[in-house]
Amino acid sequence: MKDTITVGLLGLGTVGSGVIEILEDHKESIQHKTGCDVTIKTVLVSNLTKPRDIDNTSTKLTDRYEDITQDPDIDVVVEVMGGIDHTLTILREAIENGKHIVTANKDLVAQHGAELFEASSRNQCDLFYEASVAGGIPIIRSILDGLSSDKIRKMMGIVNGTTNYILTKMTKEGVDFDSVLKEAQELGFAEADPTADVDGLDAARKMTILSILGFSMPFNLEDVEVKGIRGISLADIQYARQLGYSVKLIGVAEHDETGVAVNVEPTLLPVEHPLSSVNDEYNAVYVYGDAVGETMFYGPGAGKLPTATAVVSDLIAVVKSLRLGTSGSAYVQPQFPKQVKEKKDQLTKKYMRLHVHDQPGMLMELTKIFAEYGISFDQIIQREADKDDERELMMVTHQVSEEDFKRAYNDLESLSSIRSVDSVFRVEGSN
Ligand code: HSE
Repeated sequence: MKDTITVGLLGLGTVGSGVIEILEDHKESIQHKTGCDVTIKTVLVSNLTKPRDIDNTSTKLTDRYEDITQDPDIDVVVEVMGGIDHTLTILREAIENGKHIVTANKDLVAQHGAELFEASSRNQCDLFYEASVAGGIPIIRSILDGLSSDKIRKMMGIVNGTTNYILTKMTKEGVDFDSVLKEAQELGFAEADPTADVDGLDAARKMTILSILGFSMPFNLEDVEVKGIRGISLADIQYARQLGYSVKLIGVAEHDETGVAVNVEPTLLPVEHPLSSVNDEYNAVYVYGDAVGETMFYGPGAGKLPTATAVVSDLIAVVKSLRLGTSGSAYVQPQFPKQVKEKKDQLTKKYMRLHVHDQPGMLMELTKIFAEYGISFDQIIQREADKDDERELMMVTHQVSEEDFKRAYNDLESLSSIRSVDSVFRVEGSN
């Protein structure tokens, strides 16, 4: 058994420098835990001339990925450069050359996980990806190891820090969506192109990974229904508050005898729900298991050192399995075929805000449509609207199937007394 494990690092951005920092600062404890030294031999960068704060006596920078994938000295490739197609090419080559992989790349795992897992199993290589979901929260290890004896029924995640920051600011400071997004971009907190965060794609990728692991079924991104928070109105956040709810972008993955539904959407959560108190850029994943009941995992979902912690912990896991001779056995194929719930079996409560013509019988017409589909209301608030002949209505239903709600919604749009349906959100919590 080697005394030194040699690493090739792909990417030297924020997370890459964090990995180097943790390996240096925690050198002795890592040595103690693994029984060997872990050293970075080569780092792939895109710009060799950029000045870098790195000890180049022991670590070489390169702009040729083959210097890592084809170097027989390198045992483990740590990928923190992001990207999909080019990165996939590099990792494929690394695996075919027998390298173990640690990646923080949720886009790649969500889209090409099956291929990478197959290749790594075939080559007796490890493939770990703890940092791909919720940064510094060890949620993948918790699902795969800590809860491996249980049957997971439901996972709810605040797994995107940018959107949680925006919604927290809107809620606490009464600032509208566009202003908070602009401020977050100026602070360098939100990406210049915030599409993947704001439109829910980033959260959907993370929920895909959690659903594969939690339910042991081969889901992919297309199985997740996604609705982001772009243009979410301050009015909805404030009305939700009055009804006893906070508004969060939640990924919900549920499993029962009719199958699995995975959705990412703005959701009203009772203020007393543990996820309601997850604020700012923090992430949390709530997991409900048959035996354990409710659990929640909370922490930073991004950032240099939190994400690097997850990456280096994966690296330690690779080294431990190398020493034990168990490399390539961490991945277990999904146990079940994919079973996606039909819309008729997806039951949730719904919140709606609408503007209606203020006329006798309007409420009766409206509730009659819902009654035809067996939908009843839990809460209704009516307020004055800007126009004298209009009223604004906020309604929360009891549980309804997605199929029935869609039908009722379509019928509603044809009512002449409905001026506009301004928003529709999922409601979680009490039935
Ligand atoms: N952009 C992500 C977020 C962090 O805002 O949570 C990386 O996954």
